Amino acid sequence: MVKQEDFYYGGDYNLEQWDQSVWEEDMRLMKKAGVNLVSINIFSWANLQPDELTYNFHTLDKIMDLLAAQGIKADLATATAAPPAWLARKYPESLPVDRNGTRLLPGSRQHYCPNSTDYKRLSKALAEKIARRYRSHPALVMWHINNEYGCHVSECYCDNCRKAFQTWLRKKYQTIDKLNKSWSTDFWSQRYYNWEEIHLPGKTPTFANPGQQLDYKRFMNDSILSLYKNERDVIKKYTPDVPVTTNLLGLHKPINGFLWAKEMDVAAWDAYPDPFDNLPCESFMAHDLTRSLKKSPFLLMEQAAGAVNWREQNAVKIPGRMRLWSYEAIAHGADGILFFQWRAAQGGAEKFHSGMVPHSNDENSRVFREVSALGRELKKCKELIGSAFCAEVAMIFEWENWWALELDSKPSNLIRYIEQLLSFYRILRQLNISVDFVRPGEKLDKYKVIFAPASYQVSKPFSDQVKTFIKNGGTFVTNFFSGIVNEDERVYLGGYPGAYKDVLGIYVEEFSPMRKEVSHQIKTLWGDMANRIWEEAIHLKGAEAIAWFQNGYLAGMPAVTRHRFGSGKAYYLGTQPEDSFLTYLFREILSNAHAGAPINVPEGVEVTKRIKGSAEYYFILNHSGREKIFVIDQVYDELLTGLQEKQVVRIPPMGVKIYKKNNEHS
Ligand code: GAL
Repeated sequence: MVKQEDFYYGGDYNLEQWDQSVWEEDMRLMKKAGVNLVSINIFSWANLQPDELTYNFHTLDKIMDLLAAQGIKADLATATAAPPAWLARKYPESLPVDRNGTRLLPGSRQHYCPNSTDYKRLSKALAEKIARRYRSHPALVMWHINNEYGCHVSECYCDNCRKAFQTWLRKKYQTIDKLNKSWSTDFWSQRYYNWEEIHLPGKTPTFANPGQQLDYKRFMNDSILSLYKNERDVIKKYTPDVPVTTNLLGLHKPINGFLWAKEMDVAAWDAYPDPFDNLPCESFMAHDLTRSLKKSPFLLMEQAAGAVNWREQNAVKIPGRMRLWSYEAIAHGADGILFFQWRAAQGGAEKFHSGMVPHSNDENSRVFREVSALGRELKKCKELIGSAFCAEVAMIFEWENWWALELDSKPSNLIRYIEQLLSFYRILRQLNISVDFVRPGEKLDKYKVIFAPASYQVSKPFSDQVKTFIKNGGTFVTNFFSGIVNEDERVYLGGYPGAYKDVLGIYVEEFSPMRKEVSHQIKTLWGDMANRIWEEAIHLKGAEAIAWFQNGYLAGMPAVTRHRFGSGKAYYLGTQPEDSFLTYLFREILSNAHAGAPINVPEGVEVTKRIKGSAEYYFILNHSGREKIFVIDQVYDELLTGLQEKQVVRIPPMGVKIYKKNNEHS
């Protein structure tokens, strides 16, 4: 595999939208900004192929040669993200159909059905031509397949997809009886006698069969993934050693990132936090998730230098924020920072999206100054490439569970997967606890504490894994509506939370969801606190209560429990308590498990750690609007200034420091 030598810095470069006179200027400015990698050819299909039989690589040749001459590397895309208009005209069935049966039109992008054989054939042919032509080109350093799969079109309801779904089901279940059993089709007379009777779960009079809905999500993810693999395989034939990636979207429900990452050499994602939000935790959490997909460094493939164009109001990134949020990604495992896009477009739907170079072309503009300052600064971070992120705590992340949990007809639609994860993650982050995300089946034993909020769908093998983890001394924390169903959406009988009942030492008799606006009180070891969303009747079967409900018919019953199991402990939250309770509880859990923050810093300051060989790197990021002062236990070298850090640290608002500790010399 081609080895990464520099910390990647650059962005999407859409040269074909510009006159060639601009290209020379681009090269000069790229040099000034420290750009060493650009993603090219993402939306060039129509230019490369004017009709089915004709290809024209004249412009792409020039672009690749230009980059090579300048020593800038290409993350070369396969150009398949937006099929040309002729393709849609010639093969109208390649266009996707939405849930209402409306065929989507060309004229924007991503207008292809995930099961279109014509799209599949033609995208593969194009990828092959590109791979064959540029396989030994000196500019080529990485392949970028398509772009943000499933971003606009993650489902299709055309006849072709229906047939493909039937084939997929046949392969999965082998016999129609197995499917009937798994889908619980004796309910509402849904039994099938023939595969051809099965529809896609489109518009139905009321709730469609949950098993069918879930399988459809799996099927769609597989269909889109097979488009990726279709291109990847042909590329690998020509360049087995050039890394292949595609830009994922972080917390993107339709695309099962763990399954995709197995097929990618490098995980990458596009982060667009809303700059109106000072601490966009959702986006920060997605850095951790993307790194966790391969448990290795990732690329921030796109971010905005300033504002985007697609929100209702598009906030600018105030001075210092783009730098801070870039280091946020690095602190959580990124080995490259790239933007959408190099130059703000003059025309098209994204002309008001910021670029690294603004419409003014002014190299003294604030944006360009900040972009080039960061590019220069990142050259000092070279040694970080390949360093590992350190986490003693993990959260379970499972796309299948996300899909199942958020299907319709549940006791409460207020339980949203990402919100539940965030309610835990936010507290851990405040406590400066680094978190990995793991999926069921991955090794758990390297972690001291596992958090599994909203772990609704649990397979038998995973509940066994959790059992072993706790037995061997681990701490497990889960909450309401967890351990409820198996992979077929069938309830574990014999009392909730079926899959986790033993380890938690409780039995939940019934659920009592709360109305959205309602808040109650729980009595806790740390005083009375508010609770929302959910309550339930918990009976202790070996566990002890550490908080109690105070309202209504559940008053006096346990709300939060703790259970010793084997050499470990299992905690259960039967409600959504206010943040201060979670802070107290998590502090206790983490300190008992000896899982702590790498350095003590004041509130509003974040610290994470990456390691490489004998070197440890501590990232200190001040997300607050004020200068923060604190004391550190020893003198460190600071990577960005090259100076030794005094023991009394002053860090300005939005400031960043990277301390290096080399254990070889200490
Ligand atoms: C991404 C996409 C880019 C551009 C950008 C704008 O989702 O990959 O092509 O559209 O958003 O923010």
